[in-house]
Amino acid sequence: MDQDALKKQAAEAALSYVEGGVVGVGTGSTVNHFIDFLATIKGRIDGAVSSSEVSTERMKAHGIPVMDLNAAGELALYVDGADESNHRLQLIKGGGGALTREKIVAGASERFVCIADESKLVDVLGAFPLPVEVIPMARSHVARELVKLGGTPVWREGFVTDNGNVILDVQGLQITEPVALEQQINNLAGVVTVGIFALRPADVLILGSATGPRTVT
Ligand code: 5RP
Repeated sequence: MDQDALKKQAAEAALSYVEGGVVGVGTGSTVNHFIDFLATIKGRIDGAVSSSEVSTERMKAHGIPVMDLNAAGELALYVDGADESNHRLQLIKGGGGALTREKIVAGASERFVCIADESKLVDVLGAFPLPVEVIPMARSHVARELVKLGGTPVWREGFVTDNGNVILDVQGLQITEPVALEQQINNLAGVVTVGIFALRPADVLILGSATGPRTVT
């Protein structure tokens, strides 16, 4: 099976966690499969809270009502993908640039189900360049601070987030203390969000694999 088929398998397996109400929905190619599956049971949910404009558009095209998080209140379920997960379900996210809204919706949800193909499970986070969303005027300052932390930041040129900010992708980090590094980077002036999801990790990880979906908790 190719990687996309494994993503689709994980996305389909996540449908069993949907129990109605308003569902939090993430961003990315794996989530796109989830949105397509969610559309098949849209009559059983009240709607969705979206983590990005691109997911909003896909859900609207399917006729899934998209609601504002402020109106929806706390959510029972958030489903999203990841760029990497360690065995404690601490994640790197933001490959699609939607990390800030993803972290908000994850934080507002009781249960975070992460869906991915099995290649995303790693022992130590950091082989995937760590996305950091930054206020534009702080880009060079934050980049210098990230170098002091041992990383090599690369500006994702030409990319603007849904919040009007820029992304630095930090290469060369071995993230052995995800909670500490998340706090440290979030504390840099000019950083909006770092793509480490360790303070609020996933609760369930569904991995698509050649032998069928594997659930890690
Ligand atoms: C977007 C994300 C995605 O969840 C992450 O990049 C995984 O994407 P994909 O499902 O396409 O592999 O964090 O900001």
